[in-house]
Amino acid sequence: MPDTGQTDLAKAMTAAAAMVEQRLDELLSPALRAQEQARPARLLAAMRHAALAGGKRIRPFLLIETAGLFGVAPQRALQAGVALEMVHCYSLVHDDLPAMDDDDMRRGRPTVHRAFDEATAILAGDALLTLAFDVMADAATDADADIRIKLVAALAQAAGPGGMAGGQALDLAAETAAEPLDSAAIRQLQAMKTGALLAFAVTGGAILGRASPAQHAALARYGAALGAAFQIADDILDATGNAENLGKKAGKDAARNKATLVARYGLASARAMCQQQVEAALAALQQGGFGRDAARLASLASYVASRET
Ligand code: IPE
Ligand code: IPE
Ligand code: MG
Ligand code: MG
Ligand code: MG
Repeated sequence: MPDTGQTDLAKAMTAAAAMVEQRLDELLSPALRAQEQARPARLLAAMRHAALAGGKRIRPFLLIETAGLFGVAPQRALQAGVALEMVHCYSLVHDDLPAMDDDDMRRGRPTVHRAFDEATAILAGDALLTLAFDVMADAATDADADIRIKLVAALAQAAGPGGMAGGQALDLAAETAAEPLDSAAIRQLQAMKTGALLAFAVTGGAILGRASPAQHAALARYGAALGAAFQIADDILDATGNAENLGKKAGKDAARNKATLVARYGLASARAMCQQQVEAALAALQQGGFGRDAARLASLASYVASRET
């Protein structure tokens, strides 16, 4: 019998991804935004290559779903979700650079530095990151400037030295560390490089929805656990999946001596740790008291651990 929760989730994710794709397409068109002087064609083409056609769009989906808990319509949460997706896409472009993970394939296509060149990939990443903040600060995100400032600050913190960029630095340093990282160090690295942006997807929705402090805290715990499960699953898929399903090369973590729970403790333990994070995510939703309204967020936690792409 089909799992109705997962079927509903798949439909909702597909619908959100289509909205995200369309809005990204508009924001990355040649049309200039206020104060822009020109959009160089090659740079814009590289940004479009990075951001359009592909990707699960799980971060904007999470933001839209979480805001929806508080009655915010999907179209109203879309702008913040798209700003977040731009930061994610930038992080992938830079993650793939020769100086970082040195990957040739992403989302089933050549990486940006392969399709264009390294300098263009660096600049396309820079431009997506900065455009993301222009979009987040735009009045279309929310009419209330206080809410927009909260969103901008929270996204900056999630992407910055104490979040994604810091986590990426730890990830690279770990490749050549004298001693293998222990579980706590690997978890912290992953909470920063991946968990921070996924947690923002949830807390960003809570900010847009004017969640109470207790609701915000429960959702932050859900987001952190989901982010941890998501990266462990990414590492399991790297070890067990194939490029056809993943749209990116498999087996690259072992080849680059990446610090992962899979490498340190083996696949079976990593699977158990991933499941523990799913349980923690579900418990956080319970504690938040969202009831049936959070059914999709609960399904998403299970999906994150069982996904094949
Ligand atoms: C890949 O993220 C990078 C990680 C943080 C593990 P996703 O698996 O969300 O990549 P896309 O956006 O679907 O391509
Ligand atoms: C990437 O982690 C995390 C980012 C901040 C982009 P990975 O290096 O494992 O992501 P993939 O496997 O290349 O997508
Ligand atoms: Mg990496
Ligand atoms: Mg990588
Ligand atoms: Mg990976």
